[in-house]
Amino acid sequence: MSSAPITVATLASMKSRGEPIVCLTCYDASFARLLDAAGVDLLLVGDSLGMVLQGHSSTLPVTVEQMAYHSACVARGRPRALLVADLPFLACATPERAIESAARLIQDGGAQVVKVEGGAPVLPAVRRLTDHGVAVCAHLGLLPQSVNRIGGYRFQGRDQASADTIRQDALALQEAGASLLVLECVPAALAAEICRSLAIPVIGIGAGNGCDGQVLVLHDMLGLNPGRPPSFSRDFLKGRGSVAEALAAYVAAVRDRSFPGPVESPY
Ligand code: KIV
Repeated sequence: MSSAPITVATLASMKSRGEPIVCLTCYDASFARLLDAAGVDLLLVGDSLGMVLQGHSSTLPVTVEQMAYHSACVARGRPRALLVADLPFLACATPERAIESAARLIQDGGAQVVKVEGGAPVLPAVRRLTDHGVAVCAHLGLLPQSVNRIGGYRFQGRDQASADTIRQDALALQEAGASLLVLECVPAALAAEICRSLAIPVIGIGAGNGCDGQVLVLHDMLGLNPGRPPSFSRDFLKGRGSVAEALAAYVAAVRDRSFPGPVESPY
C-alpha cells in the first residue's frame, strides 16, 4: 500500500483502473488512526454522527460547528486517507450559506472535500462551491436530511420516474463540478448504470456492488447499532477478535467485491 496521501485525483484513477474504493464514516482521531492503518481510502465525517454519537433520531439537529469539530478530530488522526465532511441540514440552502459553511469545515475542520445532499435544489450551491475551488462530493438516492419529507428511511429510485430523476441529477451534479457521488439505498442495477455513465467515482451504500466503491456507517459495520441494523450493512466484528481485524475484513471484502453480497443488496 502506497503511503502517498489520497486525493480526489487518486480516486479518479482508481475508478479508471477498476480498483474498488474503500470508505467508512469516522468521527474521532482514534478511529481515524485505525481506519487509516487498515487502508481505508476515504474517511467520511458524516452527519450520521447526530444519530450514532449524539443519540438523535435523525441527522437534522447536527450543526456546522459540530461537523467542523468532529472533522478536526479526524484530521488529527489521519495521515493518508481523503477527508470528506458533510454539510449538515440546510447548510446548502443558498450558495452564500454553502460557501460560509464549507469554509468552516475546510478551515476549522481540515476537510478536503465537502459532501452535499440532494439534486436539483443544491445545484446552485454546488456550482458556487466548485467555482471557488472547493471539492464537492454529491449525495443522491435516500437523503436522510429530507426524512420528514420522505416520511422515513426508504429505498429510492424503485419506480421509473424517481429513477429518471436520480439519473438526471447525477449528470447535472457532475456537470456542476462535483468530484464524487454517494448513492444511498437505490437498486443495484440503477446504481451500476449511473456508475458506468459518470466519469466521477460513485460510492455506494445500500446500492449493490456495481459501484466504484463502498461506504458504511462505522457503528453499523462494527455491530454497534443498538436498534435494527440496516439490511444493506454487515457486522464485520462478529466472529472476529478485534476492531482492527473487523476493519481489515471490511477493506478486503470491498477490494475483492465480496461486499455487498446478494443478502446486502435487497433491490
Ligand atoms: O452521514 C453519513 O454518514 C452519510 C453516509 C451514510 C453516506 O452520509
